[in-house]
Amino acid sequence: MTAQDLSTIRGALLGEIAGASDLAGLERARVAALGKKGRLTELMKGLGQVAAEERKSRGAELNALKGEIEAALNAQKAKLEDADLDARLRTERVDITLPARPEAEGRLHPISQTIDEIVAIFGAMGFKVAEGPDIEDDFHNFTALNIPEDHPARQMMDTFYLPERPDGSRLVLRTHTSPVQIRTMMSQKPPIRIIVPGRTYRCDSDMTHTPMFHQVEGLVIDKTSHMGHLKGCLADFCRAFFEVPDVPIRFRPSFFPFVEPGAEMDIGCSRKGGELKIGAGDDWLEILGCGMVHPKVLQYCNLNPAEYQGFAFGMGIERVAMLKYGIPDLRTFYEADLRWLRHYGFPALEVATLVRGLVPQ
Ligand code: PHE
Repeated sequence: MTAQDLSTIRGALLGEIAGASDLAGLERARVAALGKKGRLTELMKGLGQVAAEERKSRGAELNALKGEIEAALNAQKAKLEDADLDARLRTERVDITLPARPEAEGRLHPISQTIDEIVAIFGAMGFKVAEGPDIEDDFHNFTALNIPEDHPARQMMDTFYLPERPDGSRLVLRTHTSPVQIRTMMSQKPPIRIIVPGRTYRCDSDMTHTPMFHQVEGLVIDKTSHMGHLKGCLADFCRAFFEVPDVPIRFRPSFFPFVEPGAEMDIGCSRKGGELKIGAGDDWLEILGCGMVHPKVLQYCNLNPAEYQGFAFGMGIERVAMLKYGIPDLRTFYEADLRWLRHYGFPALEVATLVRGLVPQ
């Protein structure tokens, strides 16, 4: 084969590539040149038969031609793709006058919102959030809280018991968030300042009770905190949470086995014409139980009552959410009705609502 022949083949192959008018035609040109039986492939296979003194220069020529053809294939491919895109851009249209599709936006459940607010307010006072399991044992839910064997709270009627275990004991769905007091005192050294928002369970279902509800527990343990601190702390919380600067509160003596003295806290409200108003009028509404942690509870947690003391409180979250946001029926919280959620729910990530009611620092 002469140099002339090679130049003719080169012209033919490059011509075919340049003449391809679509990607399928270009592929045919590629196969004709570089495919298994392509012209150039055949020539390379034939190199063995070429006289030894010519073989080196012929090999170099064929390699150069191969490079040239590959470059031409790439260039033509880019050209065809560009043309394709241009054609599409010329024919396709975006109608920018169409109105945007509305974005579906979820809502925060009032319980989540209320927990966020409570955490923000106590967080600003230096409380940390603690958690515990929903399934508790008898020791943490009852015994270590100084709840005696014959206390009504232990009865089958009020508490959800799990099936008996091999050793005869039965776990419970925690009936309050107070077991987290025990877990915290047994695992951390004072000073302790925690709040515990979480689910609680009682075998109860009517207008004002659901079998699952939420509480937030508070616990402060150190060497000096006393009843005055308890009152001040809860009064500040109520002002911030209900966003009423001088919301009236009162403490009534009450009994819980794990505090001494114990109290219930009410907030002032009015109930005129079926409408509930916080911070006005002469009616009272109970929102939480509280007191000074009982020395026996400290002892159960291996804390010396002669050295350590502190206070605890437990508040119903549904209760304060209903009060603050005017939600009349407790049962609707857990019916998962989207219309209800749209009405009573909150936009996500609206941090402003968390900060609005905060106690001045
Ligand atoms: N655990 C009590 C309840 O569920 C509330 C409480 C907590 C009372 C802490 C006193 C101290 O009713």
